[in-house]
Amino acid sequence: MERTIGVLTSGGDAPGMNAAIRSVVRSAIKKGFRVIGVRRGYNGLINGDLIEMDMRSVSNILQRGGTMLYTARCDEFRYEEGLQRAKKTCEENGIEGIVVIGGDGSFRGAADLSARGVKCVGIPGTIDNDIQCSEYTIGYDTAMNTAMEMVDKIRDTAESHYRCSVVEVMGRHAGHIALNCGIACGATFILVPEVPYSIDAIVEKMKMTQKIGKHHFIILVAEGIGNVNELAKEIERLTGIESRATILGHVQRGGSPTVRDRVIASQMAHYAVDLLEKGVGNRVVGMQKNEVVDFDIQEALRMKKPFDTNLYQIAHDISF
Ligand code: F6P
Repeated sequence: MERTIGVLTSGGDAPGMNAAIRSVVRSAIKKGFRVIGVRRGYNGLINGDLIEMDMRSVSNILQRGGTMLYTARCDEFRYEEGLQRAKKTCEENGIEGIVVIGGDGSFRGAADLSARGVKCVGIPGTIDNDIQCSEYTIGYDTAMNTAMEMVDKIRDTAESHYRCSVVEVMGRHAGHIALNCGIACGATFILVPEVPYSIDAIVEKMKMTQKIGKHHFIILVAEGIGNVNELAKEIERLTGIESRATILGHVQRGGSPTVRDRVIASQMAHYAVDLLEKGVGNRVVGMQKNEVVDFDIQEALRMKKPFDTNLYQIAHDISF
């Protein structure tokens, strides 16, 4: 009898999700599976919003941002009734396993569904790079490059006006985008949730660098640190340097994925299909030392991801 698997994207979208969907579909069909696309994340499982996938249904998506299966955050899936409806959809359609492309919240759902008999394998897809078990998450590279390009443009105008630009990048509880983008853009100060900061330290650094000829400043702030408009006002009040705030927002989530995102998405998805072929579920695929590996979902959710404090120090040592 033909074996069937599903694929869905869940949570915030990330560039490279389409590359992952394509790889799941093609790897699985090549192995003889039937593949069903589930639309709008777990909502599609609950409501039976499914599409049959074939080799051609994933043509011409590799280079596109967003997700052709659409995505959502699904509250109903946190309750037994939602899980049971999803399980029923899987039973009715002969779906034995699902590749779930998303973040932490999506993996919790994948663990719950696995516990109810539908084998799920997660792939880390989020621009934040905040999945503990994986050094890399799909979308991170593209988002950082998008943010970098935007900050480069902001720097042009900040420099022309002798201003300070306070720029907020995404990363709900994680400063990985802010740190890397901050280094890449030569930010005078980088504020991340992982490292405590004081406004005095920012002001002191600005004044010190101003004394040695600097006249425009980029302060890069991870989302969740606080109100960047207020911060810009406070910096202006304390330094006398005209300041402006910019929130980059969802522009960071869109756009054509970089080589890195396309390649890693393709690799991880291929690996996830291998696991399902072996009949293994309740796993998360991750990247460790450039190798694709997998973990038990609960174990993966308990892991802690270190923040690169060395890199953070380097950023501050060379921003003058
Ligand atoms: O988790 C990815 C992310 O882009 C975060 O960086 C951000 O805080 C959040 O999603 C925004 O979510 P939404 O698109 O629901 O506003």
